[in-house]
This record gives sequence, structure tokens and C-alpha cells, in this order.
Amino acid sequence: MQAVEYENVEQLNNLLSPEDDFVTSLSNASAFLNELLSDINWVGFYLLRNGELILGPFQGKPACTRILIGSGVCGTAVAQNKTQRVEDVHAFPGHIACDSASNSELVVVLRAQNGAPIGVLDIDSPLYARFSERDAANMERAAEIISRAISAQLGELDKEESNA
Ligand code: SME
Repeated sequence: MQAVEYENVEQLNNLLSPEDDFVTSLSNASAFLNELLSDINWVGFYLLRNGELILGPFQGKPACTRILIGSGVCGTAVAQNKTQRVEDVHAFPGHIACDSASNSELVVVLRAQNGAPIGVLDIDSPLYARFSERDAANMERAAEIISRAISAQLGELDKEESNA
């Protein structure tokens, strides 16, 4: 690989391919976003599996492995199928603290082509109010590109699980 300048989320289009395994894509996407974003202490994915969110590839400290839908910031994003931009996580009812250094958080939803949630992109910061509306829009665009790269494969896995 050539040396890359990390400038904007559209670069994910070059980095990710639907031909790659989804673990590969999500690993590189979390590493890319970790380089792109300043003042963050955790960035990664939770994937919807059998009605709960399970920890996927990420950068940062070890994190909780399962989150119920409707619980915490991530589970709320899935329950509402809507971005959660939290300026102070300590004021968010039910926030799940994985790293005590986190003070603000942005969670955007990964979606299948029909709009149904397939997981979330979760980003934590040690700063309060780290994430602007513009950051949220940017990360929603990142989530779109990432979802496109992985959704077909996750759909196939779900079919295998329900046939098992
Ligand atoms: N804070 C999240 C849990 C995941 S960690 O931030 C990595 C939540 O409340 O859902």
C-alpha cells in the first residue's frame, strides 16, 4: 500500500470493497477513521446479531461485548434508527461507560439497502461536545459507504443463521 493522506470520508470508497470480508472492511474503516479524526479515544463498530448489538472491529480500549437494543447510546441509535450526538455522556440516561475517559459520543446507524439497521459506528471523545452537526453529517456519509461495502455479506450471514 502507498502512503495515504487521511483527508475525508470519501477516501473510504477507495479503501473498502464489497469483495472483501466484512471483518476486513470494518477493521480498515475503524483504523482509517482513527487517523482521520482528532481528539477521540474510541472508534469502532457494533453489529446487529440475533436482536442485540455485538462488538465488532474497533480502535481503542477493550469495550463491552453486547448491548441490548434500546440500551445505552448505541442501543438507542438502533431503536430509533437515528444518529445520537451526545455532548455530555454523563447526562445521557443509561449511557454505558466502556472507557472512563469518554465525555462525548457520536453514534450513527449502519443500514441495509432497505433502510433497516445492521449495526452502528460509535465514536467517543475525552472532550465534551467534541462532535458538531457537520461531524455527524460526515460520519453519516462514512456509514453509508461502509454499509454499502458490508451489507450484502451481512445479509447472507443472517440467512445462514436463520436456516441453521
Ligand atoms: N457508550 C456506548 C457503549 C459502547 S462504548 O462507548 C465503546 C453506549 O452507551 O452505548
